Amino acid sequence: MDSLATISRPIKKELQAFNSLFERTLRHDNPILRLACGQILQSRGKQMRPILVLLAARYAGAVNADVLNAAVALELLHTASLVHDDVIDESDLRRGKRSINAMFGGKVAVLVGDFLFSRALYHAAASRSAEVVDWLSQLGQTLSDGELQQLSRTESTEFSEEAYYAIVEKKTSSLFSLCARMGAHLAGGLAPDVLAMREFGSLTGTCFQLRDDIFDYDASNNTGKPTGNDMKEGKLTLPLLHALLTQGTGELRQMALRVRQAEASDEEIARLVRFARESGGIDYTFSAMRGFSDRAQALLSPSKDAAILQSLRQYVEFVVQRDA
Ligand code: IPE
Ligand code: IPE
Ligand code: MG
Ligand code: MG
Repeated sequence: MDSLATISRPIKKELQAFNSLFERTLRHDNPILRLACGQILQSRGKQMRPILVLLAARYAGAVNADVLNAAVALELLHTASLVHDDVIDESDLRRGKRSINAMFGGKVAVLVGDFLFSRALYHAAASRSAEVVDWLSQLGQTLSDGELQQLSRTESTEFSEEAYYAIVEKKTSSLFSLCARMGAHLAGGLAPDVLAMREFGSLTGTCFQLRDDIFDYDASNNTGKPTGNDMKEGKLTLPLLHALLTQGTGELRQMALRVRQAEASDEEIARLVRFARESGGIDYTFSAMRGFSDRAQALLSPSKDAAILQSLRQYVEFVVQRDA
């Protein structure tokens, strides 16, 4: 597997331009915002989304100021959604550091998230394209819808892959899809290339969330996020859903329903994690990812710039194989 540094080599300069714009946009006189934004800048994460915007732009055309603004808008929206997500998930650790809610409390975290959303809107508007503002607004609605649907799952008594994928589509694939679509569109790409990138982003985003969900079953992961948090928050993800659907006894199903209602003990959660592993739930999720990543790879046209094509192929592989 290639590293993100290797993958982003053909867009090195563009990524530097992205980072300087990202740094500038997070400056503010308010002392709390200064501290919180400082924390965000110190641990920038993998920057998967801006890398995708820039690669998609180069796939379909050339990077310009509008593409950079879109990349900043989308990374800000992503960061805002993580700040709010850690409030929702009551999670203390993000990118190996204390989360904003752990550092400053939930109230400040909500407001910092609002600030980041507003900066995202500013950069979308800077592209002077009504379409871009419209897409970003749609995306914000889709992300909230996804997180709300996930919350409502605690009341359901059924186990379904379809419901799981519907949430993944909304909370994660939609963002990756828009990154690739906006990059290609603002770079002046032709309609078929923009469409291919949109689908490529969506499939890659689905792989991304499946991999993220697997990390939660693995106490030795390097993501800088807590493990076992999904079940603690009542979330049942694909590895366990598959195990329950194919080999779940009545007792295990009851236990899983108690997880959803936040009534399960730590021992019960540990037992379900073991069950998911031993019943092939993790292997199944890896093979589902392989299916999505093959479809993403097949969308790439071999006639494009060789270095960019190679990076896009490596990008999908990274999403599947990454260990952080
Ligand atoms: C975390 O995204 C949110 C999910 C969709 C699972 P990342 O793992 O890309 O977070 P950072 O930005 O690299 O920290
Ligand atoms: C969150 O999914 C995706 C968002 C839209 C924020 P998770 O709750 O699994 O993300 P992590 O694991 O906290 O990063
Ligand atoms: Mg979370
Ligand atoms: Mg997660």
